[in-house]
Amino acid sequence: MDLSTSYLGFELKNPLIASASPLTSSPESIKKLEDNGIAAVVLHSLFEEQINHELQQLDHFLFSHNESYAEAIDYLPHEVDFENLQADHYLKEIEEIKRSIDIPVIASLNGVSSGGWVKYASKLQEAGADALELHISYIPTDIDMDSATVEKMYVDTVSLVKEHISIPLTVKMNRYFSNPANMAKRFVESGVSGLTLFDNPVTVDIDLMTLSSVQKAQITTSRQLSESLRWCGILYRKLPCSLCAGTGVHTGADVLKAVISGADAVSLASVLLMKGEKEVQEILHFIRHWMEENEYQSISQMKGSVSLEHTDNPSAYERSSYMSALQNFDRDSDLPRRFL
Ligand SMILES: Cc1cc2nc3c(=O)[nH]c(=O)nc-3n(C[C@H](O)[C@H](O)[C@H](O)COP(=O)(O)O)c2cc1C
Repeated sequence: MDLSTSYLGFELKNPLIASASPLTSSPESIKKLEDNGIAAVVLHSLFEEQINHELQQLDHFLFSHNESYAEAIDYLPHEVDFENLQADHYLKEIEEIKRSIDIPVIASLNGVSSGGWVKYASKLQEAGADALELHISYIPTDIDMDSATVEKMYVDTVSLVKEHISIPLTVKMNRYFSNPANMAKRFVESGVSGLTLFDNPVTVDIDLMTLSSVQKAQITTSRQLSESLRWCGILYRKLPCSLCAGTGVHTGADVLKAVISGADAVSLASVLLMKGEKEVQEILHFIRHWMEENEYQSISQMKGSVSLEHTDNPSAYERSSYMSALQNFDRDSDLPRRFL
């Protein structure tokens, strides 16, 4: 049985990718993930703020140096010397991880603006990253900022990062654009080879003890898979790029649904954090078993078989309607037990 799949130009042995999380920040757990069968790994993110913090420290140093010793100005670098930045430990991590595993290593940059930090992308490539995932998570709070401005900011950032690398670039998208499909197209036009659909934004909560707002990373369930299925289904074969289903993939059944919708790969964070690296084996076992029972020989045979292109019910993608949803509503199985 052939579980291999093509993703960002790599031939992965199966569609399972470890998503950025604390599990992908330690070489030991990354090695365990590989040993249990994961096909690629996205490292925990390097954040724009981390790079900028270093840049600001360097600026401050250069500025005070400049004031104290005016004659020293000739010696100041025109370009920031990234070798001196502490964010360099991320580069060392990449080098170490690349030495210890054989599967593709995807570095992750997380930021919102098209500032100087994007130049760091080339450092990630030099350190040995096989590909780069860019996670842009901008929350517009300015009520005068229109959607075109927000979208342009995303596209400009993607284009700028792409200018600095030749390895494949993938974008972890959010689902809140008025037309995610159009944004996907614009990302691909800017040089992106893959799209992860979607990120799972951190939640905002209020701490009633300190009366302050707090952000929390969310652990998902399979119930959150729906939007990834919908948009993988819509984008299947629409764009020359790989698709990765990115939120709510917890089980072998979830992986199969994602592939059948059109995903080339899936990325997993919550399930691995909750159940550990060994769960990869369970998921792969379920996939093999299901394929055997349903007489599928390969992942590519299944890919996109229930996408917008192939469905006999396009309105399931095109029209979000309770009218048909209610036909499938089963009070016994759809209501939580406590309501019955
Ligand atoms: C504890 C935790 C840490 C995470 N750290 C990162 C990160 O550093 N960068 C990133 O892009 N996503 C990060 N994520 C998001 C995951 O990579 C993933 O996109 C999200 O959890 C949805 O996938 P899931 O349903 O498999 O959990 C994190 C998620 C969790 C739960």
